[in-house]
Amino acid sequence: MILRIALPLALMSSLVNAQDVERRIDALLSRMTLEEKLGQMSQSTSMRTPISEPIRDEIRKGRWGSFLNAGSPADRAEAQRIALKESRLGIPLVFGRDVIHGYHTIFPIPLGQSASWDPELIRDAARIAAREAAGEGIQWTFAPMIDIARDPRWGRVAETLGEDPYLTSALGAAMVRGFQGGSLASPDAVAACAKHYVGYGAAEGGRDYNSTWIPEILLRQVYLPSFRAARDAGVATFMTSFNALNGVPATGNRFTLRQVLRDEWKYDGMVVSDYTAVTEMIPHGYAADNADAAREAALAGVDMEMVSTTYFDHMKALIQSKQVDAKLIDDAVRNILRLKFRLGLFDNRPQPAAETRPVAEALDTARRLAVESVVLLKNEGNLLPISASIGKVAVIGPLADSPTDQMGTWVMDGRAQDVQTPLAALRRMLGPDRLVYARALRNSRDNTHDGFAAAADAARNADLALLFLGEEQILSGEAHSRAFLTLPGAQEALVEEIAKAGKPIVAVILAGRPLTFQGASSRAGAVLYAWHPGTMGGPAIADLLFGRAAPSGKLTITFPRTVGQVPIYYSHLNTGRPPSPGELGIPMGNPVEPKGYTSKYLDVDFTPEYPFGYGLSYTAFEYSNLRLSGATLRSGGTLTVSADVANTGTREADEVAQFYIRDLVASVVQPVRALKGFRRVHLKPGEKQTVQFTLTANDLAFYNEQAKLVTEPGRFQVWVAPDSARGVPGEFTLE
Ligand code: GLC
Repeated sequence: MILRIALPLALMSSLVNAQDVERRIDALLSRMTLEEKLGQMSQSTSMRTPISEPIRDEIRKGRWGSFLNAGSPADRAEAQRIALKESRLGIPLVFGRDVIHGYHTIFPIPLGQSASWDPELIRDAARIAAREAAGEGIQWTFAPMIDIARDPRWGRVAETLGEDPYLTSALGAAMVRGFQGGSLASPDAVAACAKHYVGYGAAEGGRDYNSTWIPEILLRQVYLPSFRAARDAGVATFMTSFNALNGVPATGNRFTLRQVLRDEWKYDGMVVSDYTAVTEMIPHGYAADNADAAREAALAGVDMEMVSTTYFDHMKALIQSKQVDAKLIDDAVRNILRLKFRLGLFDNRPQPAAETRPVAEALDTARRLAVESVVLLKNEGNLLPISASIGKVAVIGPLADSPTDQMGTWVMDGRAQDVQTPLAALRRMLGPDRLVYARALRNSRDNTHDGFAAAADAARNADLALLFLGEEQILSGEAHSRAFLTLPGAQEALVEEIAKAGKPIVAVILAGRPLTFQGASSRAGAVLYAWHPGTMGGPAIADLLFGRAAPSGKLTITFPRTVGQVPIYYSHLNTGRPPSPGELGIPMGNPVEPKGYTSKYLDVDFTPEYPFGYGLSYTAFEYSNLRLSGATLRSGGTLTVSADVANTGTREADEVAQFYIRDLVASVVQPVRALKGFRRVHLKPGEKQTVQFTLTANDLAFYNEQAKLVTEPGRFQVWVAPDSARGVPGEFTLE
């Protein structure tokens, strides 16, 4: 009897295509010389405009499989023509680029985007970025960056989606789907890249590229899940990270690259090193020389070497001396060719040569995402939104009118002339007679007070002072870690000067990381945190300030009171001596009855300034009536947790309801809270909605002492909450 399984047509065709691709790879591989194979494994950044004769010649010889961050659309089209028409085997190039949060249309930095808690909108933004990049001949973006970061001193926290693995997994997978679209072969799709694999965000001291020590339990519980989610979303490539992970550089780490990625996750995509990360195994003290570095990277399973040339220079000798098996080279080239086949590069994928410009739909999406990314941290006496009938507003600070800074870190193709600044948007909204602008400082690092008098004067002659504070772009991103989190330059002094005018102050903070700004916050009646909001940040901020939009952003990274608390994050362990809320100062007990021997500080409240998940609105939301579908969850069963969210205020708005659990007793202690779900609700004044979350036993699994994923029976707490510090509680038992 023949068992006929009727597979869906789409699945059938993809299986056929996959088999066809493997056949084509085999056929091509059998014709390639070793030098051509090593060429495919090499990525260069050395293309210039116009393309030099040596580079033309190298492309003809198959010296490079890819270029990154190089050339114009026309250069890329010419280089592709040479590869396809003038090289021996006509193997196409793949062009990679850091399209991290937009191409020409720049969206908020990823840390800002994540504060929207809106996977669909984040996916749409990535889709637009892919369309714009592919429209200029880019086929591969080095994004999403899905490192988990719990240290705002690290400059690259700007590129992350925050501190939580569950949320980063959901949003990172949304970006993968946005970049790659329905088919990689579509001319408007780009291959995504899960980076930086893995543990990079745990750099000691928050200092970029620094060592990371992450026990396997923690690696699997916190740092790997977002990469597994990207793999499950079909991410086409991975990038290895710069850091040494438990003493072994990630670019030579056979545990993460072979055992986890290939053996456990069965990943068949392509792995690229980070920029010269292969040769950096020498200063790491892991490789003796370039040949040794090439050997370690190849044995670990790095398919393509970014910028350094150890593969091309040393692999032939390594194979001849049997230090590397030629089969490993064939495996790497298969992964590279598979990517190129999947991208349609062997099947006449267009290679556009012209430059493009953002379209209205892209700018509208950028504005919406910028609005949803902004977090309202403070709003005393409902100072915001500002009344449209206000007399005059003093706009103060360099970041009110700084297009490049507003776009944030990792922007290669965003055009400053496309950026709409807050000052421009406010001028359009208020007109020239109701707005006065005082830059006050040359830039965010400026320590001079020369501009203070004019700024104070502007505040005195206005009804409200709008202070734009924060960090320039150059203080954020790669290799830009800071030991302090304060407002740079003389900004706090500027706030004090403006406060003397005695007018209401609204602070709008543009930054690439959580900052500490108690002084400014104490003087301002309201504080909006706008991150680096991208091309349309100005109109978005103006809409929020004047109530044309209502803030709904929620923090995805904990804000410390002071840098001395770092690392500080919501999903922490309880310790054996948890401090009580508000516990502070030197205990007044006596030696006989010791008091205050708890895990706190003497000089600052141990709680954060603002917790993960925190964000205010122009209305008020009330959480109530939590109920469970049962008191017990049995293996194989489900448990539904419901609660009501009501808009008890006077304005229509969105709210992101969060769902947390706590495993009260386990063989490896579990955090005081762990995010397991979230829902965006839109409520009119007086309206109430029930939000529901469904749990299975798998949702409660954790890694035990043997780093195996297990579930253990016992009591669990749950919350449906507005942030990680509050919420309506409940309890159930897992049997
Ligand atoms: C950089 C970054 C990486 C980026 C790559 C290419 O050093 O670490 O995120 O994609 O090099 O620019």
